[in-house]
Amino acid sequence: MNKISTKLAASFIISFLILDTLLMVYLHQTITHARVDEELDRLLKTGSNHRNVLEDNYTETTLHHIILMESGGERDVAILDDRGNIVQHSLDNEEILTPYVSELHDTQLTEDTILPVDWETSPYLVSMHPYEVKGNSGTLVMLQSTIPIRQLVNQLNAHFLLAGGGSIVVLFIVYLLLSKWLTRPLIRMKEATEQISEGLYDVDLPKLSNDELGELAASIRKLSNDLSRVKRERKEFLASVSHEMGTPLTYLIGYAKVAQRTELNDTERFDYLSIIEEEAERLKTLVKNLMDLAQMDEMTFTVTKSEFSADEFIRDIVQLVQPSFDLKGITLRIEQVRDFPIVADRMRLEQIILNLLDNALHYSETGSTVIIRAFQDKKHVILQVEDSGCGIAAENQQQIFEKLYRVEKSRSRSFGGAGLGLATVKELTEAHGGTIEVQSELEKGSIFTVRL
Ligand SMILES: Nc1ncnc2c1ncn2[C@@H]1O[C@H](COP(=O)(O)OP(=O)(O)OP(=O)(O)O)[C@@H](O)[C@H]1O
Ligand SMILES: [Mg+2]
Repeated sequence: MNKISTKLAASFIISFLILDTLLMVYLHQTITHARVDEELDRLLKTGSNHRNVLEDNYTETTLHHIILMESGGERDVAILDDRGNIVQHSLDNEEILTPYVSELHDTQLTEDTILPVDWETSPYLVSMHPYEVKGNSGTLVMLQSTIPIRQLVNQLNAHFLLAGGGSIVVLFIVYLLLSKWLTRPLIRMKEATEQISEGLYDVDLPKLSNDELGELAASIRKLSNDLSRVKRERKEFLASVSHEMGTPLTYLIGYAKVAQRTELNDTERFDYLSIIEEEAERLKTLVKNLMDLAQMDEMTFTVTKSEFSADEFIRDIVQLVQPSFDLKGITLRIEQVRDFPIVADRMRLEQIILNLLDNALHYSETGSTVIIRAFQDKKHVILQVEDSGCGIAAENQQQIFEKLYRVEKSRSRSFGGAGLGLATVKELTEAHGGTIEVQSELEKGSIFTVRL
């Protein structure tokens, strides 16, 4: 059942009907009252005209004329003498007058008066006009049938009923449209989310309007894309981890079997055991790095910032790595214009630069130069590591920051890299609220830029 549209339509219809009814009652009252007032006004005017004519010239002819004028229409006239007896009248039946005239005996009228009758129950509206001529006095009574007013009311009722019925039909159509425009897309989105929760990320949601429904559909599409990416990444990550662990383990088992051979002498056995130790150490480092990254992913580590000198920071790092660079015959140069303060977690920043320098060292040839730079622009502290090594192809430049990604698996393998260095660098930089980017060209070299 389309619950939302039913609820919406129900509240919409109820409010509309209440408003509609109030408006109709108000209109109904206003129109009928105006009509009654109009009739009474006319009655008074006609009555006072007749009375004036009568006072000007009280003759049989005048009486006859007055009666003639009011015969046959919706209006009637009766002329009474001072004792309340009917002198002349235009009524079909003079009994009609009785209930109205009986009141005359109790009150002495001095001016034109409208009898307070209820048009809904009384067949006539009545006005009284006292006249006074020498020797003759009495009352001229005007009567107006209430049938035309009742007819008007009946007509109004019929029209309003029609309008009410029409509104209900229109509201029903609105309800149908609401259920089509509002509920259908919602049901579609509900189905899409159910599909996502079942692991089918390829949802097909039509492009909707630019309103909240459209935004909701766009969010669901984005969610399904994100989930699909996460799922793919997890699969790739697990494949890489099993591969990373599997290879050293195969070596370990192989060398352990060889080391067990009885024909080996002590030196040979020692060599094999050394290899086993080396591979085990590598596995240990890999597991430790993976654990570190997992921790970074959850942001469970804290960045403790402090202020320190850029110059001193760079010099300390260079001192630390200089021996490795010397060993491979690579020149390490500091390029720095002047000293400035850095506000960061010193240990984490050191880890970032050490990882970049480690890559520069590994992916450069003997005899080349690696440059480390630190400078400031208006808002940021910028640290750069530049090498003239093998470089990275444009299509790999984004992937190198993913966990366990290595451009050339076989080549990197010989350097012992697991593909975790840059992923760590990225996490640490972002934890500082900074960014890392790479500019690189194959066979020319790379520049890694950390911006804090
Ligand atoms: N300076 C560089 N020059 C050329 N290629 C690079 C450079 N730095 C990184 N790469 C490429 O990016 C890949 C990912 O680097 P990353 O530091 O994450 O892993 P790794 O160096 O292979 O292993 P680890 O750092 O975990 O020991 C490397 O395998 C290499 O292919
Ligand atoms: Mg590395």
